[in-house]
Amino acid sequence: MNHFHYRDGVLHAEDVSLDRLAAEVGTPFYCYSTATLERHFRVLQDAVADLDATICFAVKANSNIAVIRTLGVLGAGADVVSEGELRRALAAGIPPERIVFSGVGKTRRELELAVDTGILQINVESEPELEALNAVALSRGKRAVVGLRVNPDVDANTHAKITTGRKENKFGIEWTRAPQVLRHARTLPGIELASIASHIGSQLTDLQPFRDAFRRLRDLIVMLRADGIAPPRLDLGGGLGVPYDERPAPSPADYAAVIRQNLGDLGCRLILEPGRMLVGNAGVLVSRVIYVKDGATRSFVVCDAAMNDLIRPAMYDAYHEILPVAQAAPDAARHPVDVVGPICESGDTFARQRALPPLAKDDLIVFGTAGAYGATMSSTYNSRPLVPEVLVKGDHFAVVRARPTYDEMLALESLPTWL
Ligand code: LLP
Repeated sequence: MNHFHYRDGVLHAEDVSLDRLAAEVGTPFYCYSTATLERHFRVLQDAVADLDATICFAVKANSNIAVIRTLGVLGAGADVVSEGELRRALAAGIPPERIVFSGVGKTRRELELAVDTGILQINVESEPELEALNAVALSRGKRAVVGLRVNPDVDANTHAKITTGRKENKFGIEWTRAPQVLRHARTLPGIELASIASHIGSQLTDLQPFRDAFRRLRDLIVMLRADGIAPPRLDLGGGLGVPYDERPAPSPADYAAVIRQNLGDLGCRLILEPGRMLVGNAGVLVSRVIYVKDGATRSFVVCDAAMNDLIRPAMYDAYHEILPVAQAAPDAARHPVDVVGPICESGDTFARQRALPPLAKDDLIVFGTAGAYGATMSSTYNSRPLVPEVLVKGDHFAVVRARPTYDEMLALESLPTWL
């Protein structure tokens, strides 16, 4: 469900037509819909209303401060994984007591900032990190509030590059060792154990891995309670998938039911870290066709967006729907084409042999479901400026990240004296 629709033959974000935005902002650009962000947050909030859960938006999915604030004013917290993301969450107005700091390799400087800011919890992923955090907290005369991330050794049944809960993955502490680590943590004066945490992967379209992981967490809590050392909270991570094509993804209500069935009676306060399900369908990448080129065996639609702007197809073979901004006639013939960007490598391909209505030079197209891990994973490869981000609300829009100028891009570089 999203708020990108054709109206009078032109694709709109809410009440703003994308061709008007393209004329004002230039292509390529990301466009986000406030109503879609709000809807997704509320659907999840309603689904877990009975569960005493704090929803901490995983900022890595979309870290624009306007997007973070849109969710924040509805009550979202933030799940951050770097100093940069923590600073963004704070700049967006997320209160520290709703911020979780995750990540397998937090530096001393990041731990210091997290402790000084007094955030909800710092998720620790290894014993060396626990020791480092203890030392940081003691040096500040404080106790760090900690979640112990366990690795439940569950196959998330998703793309290998975004699976995180198998024992061969770098994340968390092996769940069978958790009681031992927890017992040790309790002896550290700078550590206050508040939570067990887990995150098994991203874009899960099957609920069974969640069930398996939650049962392991349940067993762990029951065991720790018997020992009198169970922390009061459970952080369940993120991972719920979204539909990129016509295949459906489980609903937030189905996901909440799995939480309720497996963990609902424990009386733990819950933290959820959804990223993609809140922002994925709330964003599109708008691009203009530069050329249509007929090759020896196939036709190429060369557009002005490239893999540096949206890397998911190149990196994960991800599917993104491609729509023309000018609505195709219902009876328009569809022919298979390759949709590619201008970057000098064959990986710069958004879609191979995709059946699309006829496209011509200067036509506008959009890549759908690009609100998550789109702009945040972009780079300046080929010295292409990062593309602007636009937030729409009703018939208003605002450029919430400007396109840098080439002078700005060059300003960080300098020539050494010998040149
Ligand atoms: N919590 C933790 C600790 C995470 O590592 C992640 C995502 C999330 C929450 C949010 O997961 P989500 O609800 O968005 O699935 N770049 C990849 C996705 C990487 C996800 C990394 N961790 C992609 O474009 O598909």
